[in-house]
Amino acid sequence: DIYAKGMLGGVRPAYPTEFDGWHEAAHQKLTPEAYGYIAGSAGLETTAHANRAAFARWEIIPRMLRDTSKRDTSVEILGKRWDAPIALAPIGVMTIAHEEGEVAVARGASRRGVPMIASTAAAKPMEEIAAALHDTSGNETSGRGWYQLYWSSDRDVALSFVRRAEAAGFEAIVVTVDTWQLAWRPRDLVQAFLPFLRGEGVANFLSDPVFQSRLEKSPQEDPEAAIRLWGSIFGNPALTFDDIAWLREQTSLPILVKGIQHPDDATACIDAGADGVVVSNHGGRQVDGARASLDCLPDIVSAIGGSTILFDSGVRCGADIMKALALGADAVLIGRPMVYGLALGGAEGVEHVLQCLQADFELNMVLSGIGNVADIDRTCLVRADD
Ligand code: FNR
Repeated sequence: DIYAKGMLGGVRPAYPTEFDGWHEAAHQKLTPEAYGYIAGSAGLETTAHANRAAFARWEIIPRMLRDTSKRDTSVEILGKRWDAPIALAPIGVMTIAHEEGEVAVARGASRRGVPMIASTAAAKPMEEIAAALHDTSGNETSGRGWYQLYWSSDRDVALSFVRRAEAAGFEAIVVTVDTWQLAWRPRDLVQAFLPFLRGEGVANFLSDPVFQSRLEKSPQEDPEAAIRLWGSIFGNPALTFDDIAWLREQTSLPILVKGIQHPDDATACIDAGADGVVVSNHGGRQVDGARASLDCLPDIVSAIGGSTILFDSGVRCGADIMKALALGADAVLIGRPMVYGLALGGAEGVEHVLQCLQADFELNMVLSGIGNVADIDRTCLVRADD
């Protein structure tokens, strides 16, 4: 598509076509505070760097003279067909990247047939995101959405979010368990920047009937009191695997637990009734010095193989997607690359980034001699130092 447009009219793509280009162009566009919040990680950012270094330690061995004339990048996840083994990671406060925030993300995702996981910390209420996902008035196909739950210490608020997600048509609940409190994030600390305190990223709370019932005055009448209440109930340090078992009894939607890094935790999630996990260290934004997410993956696959295993933290290109799948992930989540696309061009920018990643993945797969996602396995890889 890109080459043909270039041949015919000398038209080049409106945006860069790989991660460093998206990152650099978004850096130019974003305010310093927003850029620091999005690009930054915890502590000395050791884990964020480790996430990338782990990919470099695996190398693909392309195989030749295999018939790849029929190619299929689709996968089945929790009983549904996805066009590619890619979904959008839950990311909060996306209005700091683009004024249309998560609504633009939903449009871009649905145009590419990529499922979106809507965050509890979204700047738009989940019902608005769902409406954008399911809007077929443009040329868009109806999008698929999951809801990511930050489990409030007020359990009735948490349950209210789940009920609203069910009513809005989200198809799974992703409980993020690694961020009941924000970590030490120097880039935000030095700029004293926390968007939530100025009312961005709290829309799901302010629009929630149970949350509102805890306030003396409405959030419009007394926004400061609403933010104070948000601050006091946002996260739940007391959460345990028993709560996952409790949630299992409350909803018939599939449950995935995000932020799992130890195989025993993965097993305990499945024992508590979860359908799967997201292997993730939150892009290095929580525990600095934590192991690279990719290095956590194989042990978790050994522990709970057969359950749904998604992966994120450091996925930047088609080769990364292939490596994560070869090590046992069923699909990957795209985080920062999508945010940079959003910053560059709203829905169109998200669509562009996803199209690039899908094409890069497909080409990488077939040029490695593999026609089908199911055939990507450990035999495709060697350790770089072997
Ligand atoms: C996140 N992430 C995140 N995760 C989550 O469960 N709920 C959330 O609201 C957020 N918010 C958020 C904001 C920003 C700016 C970033 C960069 C990340 C984590 C996200 O889902 C995912 O785990 C990471 O983005 C993966 O790391 P990379 O690939 O983006 O480096």
